[in-house]
Amino acid sequence: MASPSPPNDPATDPSIQDLIAARPWLKYDAFSGLMLDDVPLAGIADAVGTPTWVYSATTMRARYKTLTTAMSDAGLDTHMHYAVKANDSRAVLALFATEGAGADVVSGGELLKARRAGIQASKIVYSGVGKSAAELRLALEEDIGQINVESAEELETLSALAAASGRTARVALRVNPDIDAGTNDKITTGRATDKFGIPYDDAIALYTKAASMPWIEPVGLATHIGSQILDLAPYRDAFRRIADLVLALRENGLPITTVDCGGGLGIPYRNEAAPSPAGLAAAMKQAFHNLDVHLAMEPGRWLVGPAGVLLASVVLVKQTPHEPFVVLDAAMNDLVRPAMYDAWHGIVPVSAIDAHAPAAPATIVGPVCESGDTFARSRALPRLVPNARVAILDAGAYGAVMSSTYNARPLAAEVWVDQGQWSVIRDRQPFEAVWERERLPT
Ligand code: LLP
Repeated sequence: MASPSPPNDPATDPSIQDLIAARPWLKYDAFSGLMLDDVPLAGIADAVGTPTWVYSATTMRARYKTLTTAMSDAGLDTHMHYAVKANDSRAVLALFATEGAGADVVSGGELLKARRAGIQASKIVYSGVGKSAAELRLALEEDIGQINVESAEELETLSALAAASGRTARVALRVNPDIDAGTNDKITTGRATDKFGIPYDDAIALYTKAASMPWIEPVGLATHIGSQILDLAPYRDAFRRIADLVLALRENGLPITTVDCGGGLGIPYRNEAAPSPAGLAAAMKQAFHNLDVHLAMEPGRWLVGPAGVLLASVVLVKQTPHEPFVVLDAAMNDLVRPAMYDAWHGIVPVSAIDAHAPAAPATIVGPVCESGDTFARSRALPRLVPNARVAILDAGAYGAVMSSTYNARPLAAEVWVDQGQWSVIRDRQPFEAVWERERLPT
């Protein structure tokens, strides 16, 4: 079983300067304070208010290029399907569409959003353990590239729906390789006890069955073992098991042209040693280079996580006999990752003067009425005063998408920074919009 990540020792936390130095798209200007791609974040906060998500388009594009180049440098022709769930902003989807990426979607909503953002249907892969009949019908109507089937039950449903619609479904079987990715328990997906994928030992029989179904065209295998993976060994193990299956399917005379290697590549939130795209490419090459299959992957976090920050303001600093509580106007309803996964996110002041002031440990919290609404404990920060701004780092993935309106808190604004310009890509939700779809009972 995946062990929970060991607790981080605040004494070994990276300094504010270390965090910024590791993220070249961020830097301090002595007068303007923290800048994202040369755009002062204080100016955005002044104009739009806080909490606000801010994304660097340049960083997303650069990371996409780095990932695709790592694949081509390894001699791999890998189709990229951006995992929409990481950040489904239309601006983000349009950016990856322009870069030529496809999409990995997990719901009818994501499918439609990806299509409307300009992602070609033929480049869309649909994953997920519980696609409804309506969602599968939509996938057939849109004639998307591939449906990653996750169970024998789903294959039956899809076969019937495909026959009824008169459309052949191109299918990959998502196989559960029973490999522990060693990441947080809640985002580990490739153990036999996880709900995802087809049990490894059932794959050949189910593929054989799929090949016998008139409206199903089995094209390959898919696997995805988890997210925020910081070690290449589980990838190698999973890929080896999938490669074994490719050979076994061929021995059985079954056609297979595609292997979807999933997503999951981790990023350094703190100062972890994270695997490189080149390392992942090498693992893919090692397993599949002589199998004559098209490769695909579904990266999310690696592409967009580091490209975003969540800007927040200090509401007040509450002194206690222990360390002070710095209460922000952002909360767990905005960024749930610390509450949900004990995730560590860098938190840095927006003011350059604050950034260079002496630091002391503080607990950084939001205003929501749960103790879990804690972004960090014993975090070395300068003394912050009410209205001082901070940026919570690496908030581009699984940030805004996981927000809720808990405590009747409106969804925060989202801002796009591209080539020295910034624009609002989602307005802050007005209060009334939080409850506008409610009705009093008649
Ligand atoms: N493909 C499939 C089938 C997935 O389930 C996922 C993520 C991905 C691709 C993309 O994985 P990535 O490259 O982003 O690691 N909310 C959690 C992460 C959940 C990931 C779920 N599946 C977090 O904030 O850490």
